[in-house]
Amino acid sequence: MSVLTQMREAPSANPIERLLAATEADMAKVNALILSRADSHVEMVPELARYLIESGGKRLRPMLTVAAAQLFGKGTGSAINFAAAVEFMHNATLLHDDVVDESDMRRGKPAARMVWGNKASILVGDFLLGQAFMMMVETGDIGALGVLSAASAVMAEGEVFQLAKTGDLTTTPADYAEVIRAKTAVLFEAACEVGAMSGGADAEGRKALARFGLELGNAFQLVDDVLDYGGQSGTLGKNTGDDLREGKMTLPVILALSEGSEAERATITKALGDAEATAEQVVEVVAIMEQHKTLARTIDQAHGHARAAQQALDVLPESEMRALLSDVVEFSVIRAY
Ligand code: IPE
Ligand code: IPE
Ligand code: MG
Ligand code: MG
Repeated sequence: MSVLTQMREAPSANPIERLLAATEADMAKVNALILSRADSHVEMVPELARYLIESGGKRLRPMLTVAAAQLFGKGTGSAINFAAAVEFMHNATLLHDDVVDESDMRRGKPAARMVWGNKASILVGDFLLGQAFMMMVETGDIGALGVLSAASAVMAEGEVFQLAKTGDLTTTPADYAEVIRAKTAVLFEAACEVGAMSGGADAEGRKALARFGLELGNAFQLVDDVLDYGGQSGTLGKNTGDDLREGKMTLPVILALSEGSEAERATITKALGDAEATAEQVVEVVAIMEQHKTLARTIDQAHGHARAAQQALDVLPESEMRALLSDVVEFSVIRAY
């Protein structure tokens, strides 16, 4: 059975739904805040923002913020603002990312840029980022503001580093690790850290949650990059094969290039970065990846990060929420939607 089939057939017990239930009351407040802060007298702003926001998304990052706060039990007051801010930062990044990646689909619908254009997507992304910072400032928590501001800068750096490496055949696994840490894992890290901070965590608890988020984020992006080579776009909500066509140097392709034969390398490099590469070409490249087990090994790496995330929680006292967060990590590796 291929890795991708195993991923699709993974057990259905869904920790994300349990996380949703555990954070339901707080997430209702977060969602209300998200909708109200997406408002503007300039009509195109709420139209575009709500199009993206109301098309869902898993809301994984804000749920983690709220859950991290709940874990430490001091109430989730400022965590509501931080959770909404984190989701705004994420949504701003998605709007910008779809322009940069020229992606057509997001959250199962045409990407906002396909409806309103690239210019509006960039500007509304900027608006959401500004609103995110407003919500952080309102908490008066300068420490948490520092954590999220740093994350915002690092994420942008990560996207630029990835852009600089586009189609670069010399990209190493270490370069890739740096890209995913910066563009994805750091926001998970910050989401969990500020949640812990607003929940009253001590220095050790804060560090544990930061580490948990970072490792979860790394696992999450590794899996996302595998899914791009075979996740079902119906369930993923975005097109598959795009990373290859964009020339994105993700781990499955980096490993395949370094281990493939001369002929296999030629097949990969022909499709890599070719926006017109056909579905058949993508299938050929996936076959090379299966041959060298590069998708399976990418999943193995995700498992390694997932274990590290779970271990980061070991220093905390046992609790239902701790167990749930640990289960959420499993989902990040077996997610099929
Ligand atoms: C998409 O993140 C961007 C990545 C880091 C891969 P999600 O998969 O969390 O996107 P939504 O918010 O659920 O749509
Ligand atoms: C992850 O990058 C999105 C960000 C963290 C900016 P990708 O470009 O791989 O994400 P998708 O595949 O578009 O969701
Ligand atoms: Mg993208
Ligand atoms: Mg991707």
